[in-house]
Amino acid sequence: MEKSINNRKSLNTSIGLTSFSGSDQDKFGNFVNSAINAFNLGHYDKAINFYQEAAALDPTDFELYYNIAVAHNYMARPEDAINYYRKAIKLKPDLTGAYHNMGHALIQLDRPGQAVACFRKTLTLNPSNGVYWQNFIKALSKIPLAESSHFKDDYKKCLAKEDIHLGLVSNHLIALVKQQTGFSSLFELLKHDKLESIFNNDKNSSAFHVLNDPFLTGLLTIDIVVDPLIEKLLTGIRKILSRLAVANKTAGGIDKNISKFCISLAHQCFINEYVYFKSEEEKIWIDNLYRRSTTGMASGHFNPVFILSLLAAYAPLCSYENLRSKIIAISEIEGNPDFNLLVQRQLAEPAIEVALITEINPLTNVADKVSQAVRNQYEENPYPRWITAPHIKARKLADAIVKLFPQLEKIGVSIPDSPRILIAGCGTGRQAVVCAMRYTNAKILALDISKRSLTYAMRKVQEMKIGNIEFAHGDILELGDFDKHFDVILSTGVLHHLSDPIKGLRILTGLLSSGGFFYIGLYSELARRHIKEARKYIAHQGYGSSADDIRKFRQDLLLSDENFQLKKITELTDFYSLSMCRDLLFHVQEHRFNLIQIKDAIADIGLEFLGFEIPNSNAIAQYKSKYPSDPDAISLDLWHRYESDHPDLFLGMYRFWVRKR
Ligand SMILES: C[S@@+](CC[C@H](N)C(=O)[O-])C[C@H]1O[C@@H](n2cnc3c(N)ncnc32)[C@H](O)[C@@H]1O
Repeated sequence: MEKSINNRKSLNTSIGLTSFSGSDQDKFGNFVNSAINAFNLGHYDKAINFYQEAAALDPTDFELYYNIAVAHNYMARPEDAINYYRKAIKLKPDLTGAYHNMGHALIQLDRPGQAVACFRKTLTLNPSNGVYWQNFIKALSKIPLAESSHFKDDYKKCLAKEDIHLGLVSNHLIALVKQQTGFSSLFELLKHDKLESIFNNDKNSSAFHVLNDPFLTGLLTIDIVVDPLIEKLLTGIRKILSRLAVANKTAGGIDKNISKFCISLAHQCFINEYVYFKSEEEKIWIDNLYRRSTTGMASGHFNPVFILSLLAAYAPLCSYENLRSKIIAISEIEGNPDFNLLVQRQLAEPAIEVALITEINPLTNVADKVSQAVRNQYEENPYPRWITAPHIKARKLADAIVKLFPQLEKIGVSIPDSPRILIAGCGTGRQAVVCAMRYTNAKILALDISKRSLTYAMRKVQEMKIGNIEFAHGDILELGDFDKHFDVILSTGVLHHLSDPIKGLRILTGLLSSGGFFYIGLYSELARRHIKEARKYIAHQGYGSSADDIRKFRQDLLLSDENFQLKKITELTDFYSLSMCRDLLFHVQEHRFNLIQIKDAIADIGLEFLGFEIPNSNAIAQYKSKYPSDPDAISLDLWHRYESDHPDLFLGMYRFWVRKR
C-alpha cells in the first residue's frame, strides 16, 4: 500500500489556505499536526477524527481524505477506505496512490474487476512503474476464468510488455486460447488424426487461425504452459510440420503463415527445456532437415525462418553448430523481431553464459559423492529456466520479518540496514534476484554447486542490472571453515538433496550471526507420499533419468487412462518443464522429513522456530483458530497434528523461518 501523505512543507499550510481566516488557519494546522502524530503512533481512529476536523475547515484538501482512507486501510476497513479514496480522487483525479490503494482494498473485498480498473488507471498515469504493472496482473489473476474474456484488452496489454512476469495470469491466457472458436475443432481434428488438413486446404478455417491467436503465441513465448491439452496439440502440430518440411511440402505458402506460430512454439519448447515427447521418426526428420539446412537452406522451397524455428522447437539453436553463421545472417536479413528474440534467447544468451564460466568465483571443492551426483544433475538441467521475475517493491528486511511474525515486535528485530544475506543453493538465480529487488541495501552472496546454474543466474543479473549480488561456486557441506557471517540465510529446496541434510543445516547455522534469521525449505514426507509412489513406479518400470526417459515417462502418463493412480501428477506445474520434472520425480538424492524430526533437529542445533510461510492459503489463520493455545503458530507438535488432517498442505515443501538463539 502507498503511504499517507505527510509532505506538507509546513504543517499549517493547506491547499485551500486562501479562504481561511487567521484563527482557522491555526486550528487547521493543529488538527493536521495532531492527526499526523496520532497516525504515527498507530492511533488511526484518532487520526481519522483529527483529519475530519481539518476537512470540515477545508473540504477542498484532497490529502486529508487520502490520509483518512489510508488510516481506514490500516484498520482493515476497506469499504471506508474506498469511500475516502474516491473523495480524494474527485478533488485530484491524477492521484495515482489513491487508485493504487483502492485497487488493493477492492482485491480484499473480492471485487477484482473494479480493482483491475483502478490499476489500469495507475498505469495510464504512470506506465513505467513496475510495481503498478505487477498489481495490475495480480488483480487480473483474481478474475474468475469464465469472465476473462471481458478483460481481453488488459491481458493483451500485459502480453505486449516484455519485461513483466505473467506467471499469475497464465491460466487466464490458457482460458482465452481455449475460448477461441477454432480451438475445439483443432482438438477434434487431432483426435481423428486429421490435423494435417488445416495446412493443406483449410487455411481459412477458424482452427488454423487459432495457431496465430495472439493469446496462444504470447503465452507460448513468455512462460511454461501448464496444460495437458495444449501440450498434446503442440506436439501433434510440431510432428506434422516436421513431416511436411522434410517432405518439402512447404511450398504452398504454409510456411509464411505458420512462421509466427512456429517461432512461439520454439520459444515454448526452449522455456520448458524440450520436455515434449519426440518420436524416433521425428528425430530422423529433424536430423535430415538440419543437414539439408547446412547445405542448401537459402535455395529451394524453404522459408528459412520457418525451418530454423522448427529446428529450434526440437533443440536450442546453439546446438546446431554448423548453422550458427547462417542463423545470424538470416536474423539480420529478415529483421523479424519475433525470430530475433528466438535467436537472442537460444543463441546469444547461451553464448554469454558459456563465456561467464571463467568469471565464477570458486569457493570450495566438491568432494562428497552425493554432492557430485547432485551437481551433475544440475549441470545437465539447471533449475529452473526462467525468463522474467515479478517486480518487487523494496522494503526493509526487519520490517518484512516483523510483518511475518508480529510476535517479534515486542522483543525487537535487529537486522542491519545493509544486511548480509547468503543464498545457499541459489539455482539459476530467481530467488536471489527477487531478494535483491526487495532488499536493495542487502549484500547478497549466492552460492551453488552447479556452474551452469550460476552462469544462468549471472547472465540474468547482468541483464537486469542488479548490482548487489555476488556469486560463488561450492558445496554447502564444505562451508564449515568459511570465515564470513551472515544476518540472514535463505536455503529452500536444497538441504534435502544433501547426503546429510542435518549436517548441512548445522554448517549453515554456523555461518549465521547470533540472532540471525534462516529461511528453510524442506520436503514433507506426508505431502510427498504420491511423489514417493511415483518414484517407486518409475524405478519399477525402469525409466532412467535421461531427458529421453523423462519425455517417455511423461508421454506415457499423459496418454494413460484418467483413472491411473499417478494421473494427478499431470496437474502439477513442475511436470511441464524438464528440469522441474527431473527435480520432482527423478532426483538422484531426496530426503523427506516430518515436523517432529524438524523440531528435534532445529532444537539440537540451537535454532528457534518462528513460523511457516504458506502463500495463498488461509492455513495459518485456520491453525490459529483451531489451536488458540498457540497464538503465534509456532508449536511444531501442533502443526504436526494439523498437517495429518491436511496432508497436502505442504505439497511444495515446508517453508519456514528459524532464528539462531
Ligand atoms: C531445487 S534447486 C533450488 C534452487 C533455489 N533455491 C530455488 O528455490 O529456486 C536446488 C539447488 O541446490 C543446489 N545444490 C544442491 N546441493 C548443493 C550443495 N551441496 N551445495 C550447494 N548447492 C547445492 C543445486 O545445484 C540446485 O541449483
